[in-house]
Amino acid sequence: MQYDQAAALPAPDAASAAHSEKVRAFLREAIHANGGSISFAEYMQHALYAPGLGYYAAGSTKFGTAGDFITAPEVSPVFGRIIARQVAPVLAELGGGVVLEYGAGSGKLAADLLQSLERLAALPDEYQILEVSADLRERQEACLRAASPGLVSRVRWIDSPPTGLNGVIVANEVLDALPVERFVCAEAGVAELRVVADGDAFRFVTAPAPARLAAAVEAIEADLGRKLAEGYRSEVSLGLPGWIGELAGTLDRGLALLFDYGVARHDYYAEDRSAGWLRCHFRHRAHNDPLVLAGIQDLTAWVDFTAVAAAARAAGLDVAGFVTQAQFLIGGGLDAELQDFASLSLEQQLALSQQIKTLTLPGEMGEHFKCMALKRGEIATPAAFRAADRTHTL
Ligand SMILES: C[S@@+](CC[C@H](N)C(=O)[O-])C[C@H]1O[C@@H](n2cnc3c(N)ncnc32)[C@H](O)[C@@H]1O
Repeated sequence: MQYDQAAALPAPDAASAAHSEKVRAFLREAIHANGGSISFAEYMQHALYAPGLGYYAAGSTKFGTAGDFITAPEVSPVFGRIIARQVAPVLAELGGGVVLEYGAGSGKLAADLLQSLERLAALPDEYQILEVSADLRERQEACLRAASPGLVSRVRWIDSPPTGLNGVIVANEVLDALPVERFVCAEAGVAELRVVADGDAFRFVTAPAPARLAAAVEAIEADLGRKLAEGYRSEVSLGLPGWIGELAGTLDRGLALLFDYGVARHDYYAEDRSAGWLRCHFRHRAHNDPLVLAGIQDLTAWVDFTAVAAAARAAGLDVAGFVTQAQFLIGGGLDAELQDFASLSLEQQLALSQQIKTLTLPGEMGEHFKCMALKRGEIATPAAFRAADRTHTL
C-alpha cells in the first residue's frame, strides 16, 4: 500500500501530542486486553469514539479552517438551504413531522436547515439530533444558540433512535465515519488486517479473516461476478447494514437523505482500486496512514453505496434516488438560491461564487459526494432527484 510520508504532515502542537499519547495508551491497553491484536474496525472505533478520548469524543476543533477538514455545511449555508427546499414538501405532504439529524458535527447544518425551514414556513414539529459525541452535543447547542436563539427550543438531543418517526432523516458525512474492516485477498483465502502495538506505535499484521468478514468479501465477489485478485486490499463496513437497519426501524413514513463521498460497488472494488478507500485528515492534509496521530486525526472510508441500497431494501425502505451532490444542488433549487445574486456586494458575490464552485465542481465536492434518498410510504420524490438519477448504476 502506498502511504504518504507521515513526516510530510505538520507536527501536532504539544497539547494535541499529549492527547494522542493518552489515546495510544488506551489503544495499547485494548490491544493487550484482546490478546495482542484488535481488528481495524475496533481500532477505528476507539480512535474516533472512545469516551472522552477519541477524535470525535474529545474537545478539539475538527470542522472548518481551524480544524482538520471542511464539510459541505461549513462551506456554505446554501447546502442547508437547498436541503430545506427538499424537506419542506415532504413535511407538507405528511402534514407536519420531525426532522432527525444524525451526527450533526458543529451544528451548522441544523442551524441553516431550521432557519431556512422557518423562511419557507415549514418548521418541523421538532428537530432531533442523534449524536454519539458528548463534546459535539455541547458545541452543537452553542452553535444553535448563537445562530438561531429563537429556534433552539425546537431542538432535542436524543440518545437512541426513536420509533414511529414521520418526517425526514438527514445525515451528512456520517456513513464515512462508521468503522470499517480492512482485508487483503491471499492465496489461502481472505485475510484480515489487524492492529498490533509495536513499542509506542502500531502496525498491521494479517490473520485469517473471521467468518463474518470472509462471508462479506465472498458476497461482494459474488455480486461483482469475479474474484478479487491476490494482494487486493480494501475495506468493508460490517456495521453498515445494522446502522441502516436501525435508521429504517426509526422511519415510519417519510424520507432519509444520506450525503457522503462514495461510489457504486463496481467502482469501489474496481481492479485498479487495490489499496482501498480509507483516508485520514489532519490539519487539512489528507493521507493514508491511520496508525499515526491516533485520536487527533479523522479516519474515514468512502462509502459503497450499493451496500447502502441493499441494506435499505433489506430493511424495507425504497431507494428513491441517487445523485451526485452537484446534481442534488442544481436540481434542488440552486437557481432559486441565486435569484438575489445581483443585489449582493461584489465581495459577497465572489464569496458565494467560490462556495458554489466548492460544492458543485467535479474536482471539488460535486462528483465525489453523492446523495441517496431512501423512503418509506407514499411520498413524492423531491425535485433534487428527478433529473439525472443514478440508482440504476448501483
Ligand atoms: C465527519 S463528521 C460530520 C459532521 C456533520 N454532519 C457535518 O457535515 O459537518 C461525522 C459525525 O457523525 C457522528 N457519528 C458517528 N457515528 C455516529 C452514529 N452511529 N450515530 C450518530 N452520529 C454518529 C460523529 O460524532 C460526527 O458528528
